[in-house]
Amino acid sequence: KKKVIFDTDPGIDDAMAILFAQASGKIDLLGITTVFGNATIENATRNALYLKQRFSIPAIVCKGAKDPLIIPAGEPTTFVHGQNGLGDIELPDSLSVNADPRIACDFIIETVRNHPSEVTIVAVGRLTNLALAIQKAPDIIALVKEVVVMGGAFGHNGHTGNVSPYAEANIIGDPHAADLVFTQQWPVTVVGLDVTQQSIMNDAYIQKLKEQSDVYGDFIYQISHFYSNFHKQSVGLDGFYVHDSSAVAYVLAPELFKIQQGPIRVVCEGPAMGMTLCKTLEKAFPVDGWQDKPSQQVCIDVDSQGLLDLYFNIL
Ligand code: BDR
Ligand code: CA
Repeated sequence: KKKVIFDTDPGIDDAMAILFAQASGKIDLLGITTVFGNATIENATRNALYLKQRFSIPAIVCKGAKDPLIIPAGEPTTFVHGQNGLGDIELPDSLSVNADPRIACDFIIETVRNHPSEVTIVAVGRLTNLALAIQKAPDIIALVKEVVVMGGAFGHNGHTGNVSPYAEANIIGDPHAADLVFTQQWPVTVVGLDVTQQSIMNDAYIQKLKEQSDVYGDFIYQISHFYSNFHKQSVGLDGFYVHDSSAVAYVLAPELFKIQQGPIRVVCEGPAMGMTLCKTLEKAFPVDGWQDKPSQQVCIDVDSQGLLDLYFNIL
């Protein structure tokens, strides 16, 4: 089993991705670390704990950052994920499971040090917790096996942004954290809108999942209603894009994806703030900030039917 720390802002598609990872049987979820974004940090953490309780997920849950490294905090995207972050389904007033006392970045540091070269970090929210961990303990950079990020958009398949013409939510939400994570000497694979918006779970798919997945079907049907309505209203879609679960799919079945390599940078201010750039460098340039940065991986295409089948079969 792959040892995974799952950094997340649950969030409807985050919840679906956590269940995908858990149900796969191929991932040992060491911890779920939460971050602000789709919901407040309190709600995101409560939602992670709710999933832990309802689906008996053994992972430790740690609360993380409540705002970005440098830019001011934005509002949680409740218009996409509901006031409570889980599509406003009814949640119990109290839970029988608790968060670990450590803050997310400390949990990440300790866990990576305890399992050198074994831990994959899957990050599907703002990258603030990861950035804090590497600022606090740069030694972990050499100890992490792989970092898989859902975020960004590199212009492939016509996808450039979802919250501005040039930026995706997880990256514009903390661009400095993302640039820090992408430019470290550790292997990063970015699963951005280029591929996540290629895969769509439509109403028929969710209906079938409700009928055939005894454990997860009803819950996914309930939470995804709000998400699917948002997509219907904002982009006229039947169903919704598969964002965070695409990062899990990359961990489980990387052969579904086509990859480009090169250094990745993030625009940290101005009208293109949050824009992600990846350039395969064929010649030397006289400007700093590219040649000296490690080459990373960007997913530029996906077998979307293969991905949808994988999710369905696992759940
Ligand atoms: C990303 O933003 C959030 O709304 C989703 O959970 C996903 O991580 C997509 O842009
Ligand atoms: Ca997310």
